[in-house]
Amino acid sequence: MSTEKRGVACVKGKLPGPRSKELFARWRQVEAQCAGYQASVVWDQGRGAVVTDVDGNTFIDWTSGVLVTNVGHCHPRLVRAIQQAAEKLLNNYECLNVPRVEAAEALISVLPPHLDKCFFFSTGSEAVEAATRIMKRKSGHFEIVSFYGGFHGRTYAGLTAGGLPGPKKGYGPTIPGAIRAPFPYCYRCPFKSSPEACGMMCLEFLDDSVRANSTGSLAGLIVEPYLGAAGFIFPPEGWLKRVEAWARSKGILFTLDEVQSSYGRTGKFWAMEWEDLTPDLLAIGKGIGSSVPVSAIAARGEVIGVLGPGEMSSTMGGNPVSSAAVVAVVEIMKEEKLAERALQMGRLFERRLRAIQESSLYLGDVRGRGLVFGLELVKDKQTKEPAPDLTRKLIDVAARNGLLIGSVGTFGNVIRVAPPLVITESEAEESLDILERSLGQL
Ligand SMILES: Cc1ncc(COP(=O)(O)O)c(C=O)c1O
Repeated sequence: MSTEKRGVACVKGKLPGPRSKELFARWRQVEAQCAGYQASVVWDQGRGAVVTDVDGNTFIDWTSGVLVTNVGHCHPRLVRAIQQAAEKLLNNYECLNVPRVEAAEALISVLPPHLDKCFFFSTGSEAVEAATRIMKRKSGHFEIVSFYGGFHGRTYAGLTAGGLPGPKKGYGPTIPGAIRAPFPYCYRCPFKSSPEACGMMCLEFLDDSVRANSTGSLAGLIVEPYLGAAGFIFPPEGWLKRVEAWARSKGILFTLDEVQSSYGRTGKFWAMEWEDLTPDLLAIGKGIGSSVPVSAIAARGEVIGVLGPGEMSSTMGGNPVSSAAVVAVVEIMKEEKLAERALQMGRLFERRLRAIQESSLYLGDVRGRGLVFGLELVKDKQTKEPAPDLTRKLIDVAARNGLLIGSVGTFGNVIRVAPPLVITESEAEESLDILERSLGQL
């Protein structure tokens, strides 16, 4: 199977190609095989939304790594900023450097005014760990409320707050004080209801869960604006605002995990803007460096101010190269109006994806906002039985047709649609054609 030569995608022969095959064989000898399912492609180069593998095949990328390369693969301005910083200084730990000051200023400049302080780390999990620590330290309490299906990273505070089996399985007890409540997964409503009829019943269960499980030591609540790893599950409008109000009514801290939903992904710079949320703490990752390992927390000054000297640090956090990337990404986002672009291009995606859903036997649900969609594959649209095998097959078929996609989901049956925000209209149309063709070939 090979793609027609109309657009940018072009796969010659079988996957993996000969060079990829050789690299996979070498890799399997030396690195543990514990990553998720991926197409048999060894990436070599990326530009914008197009990836070339080591055999010279070209693909349109709907993964952005894992919602990381928001400004596009190897954006020339980002690359230049990293190169220039690297030539001057690579690391100096906690001593101040110029890019770190500029990065903090750049980040604060795009945050809502109440989030007036930040601190840098390397990974999203590290940012979540830090936010959790601050919720405990500031409140003097230890219980953290979170949600079924949540993913907040693989370190201990992250996996404890998380509500997916994968990161926890086999590791014994998690950190004490975790209270989890149902998230509104409306396509598979835990209460067998519908958004129109239920009156957001999940919120009642938030109260119930806390009543049943709390020892009276609530510190805070952490939530993603939409569940990412659980399958791009967007709560009904107003739910997040009510969760925030619930946290306020309990007098506890409200943390939003925007590690993946920020930097334009949902069509606004921050997903919190959709519902005017005012979190006390914000965990940020992925898009902030748009490929460079950097993450951060942002907080109200009086909240993060609970930490005194020496109470938080990170070996790589605030290093000059990552910091230069933070500045460059903010500039690119602003100049290229990438949040607006995501919104605009998202409309095209939504229209086409809904039409594809109509004609597909397996596309049970399409949900999303801006340039992030989840496509839930089922064996039968009536029974909604998850189709994880078909999902893996679609990843392979799409790759052979020139489209890179990945899967997520509580049941492993959701395709993530999250291209770099710079994807062009013709790349969007071409990639949607490929998806449609690939679904037809299952
Ligand atoms: C919402 C959310 N929080 C935290 C994390 C953890 O980030 P990292 O993998 O950089 O540690 C992720 C990663 O996918 C995420 O999606």
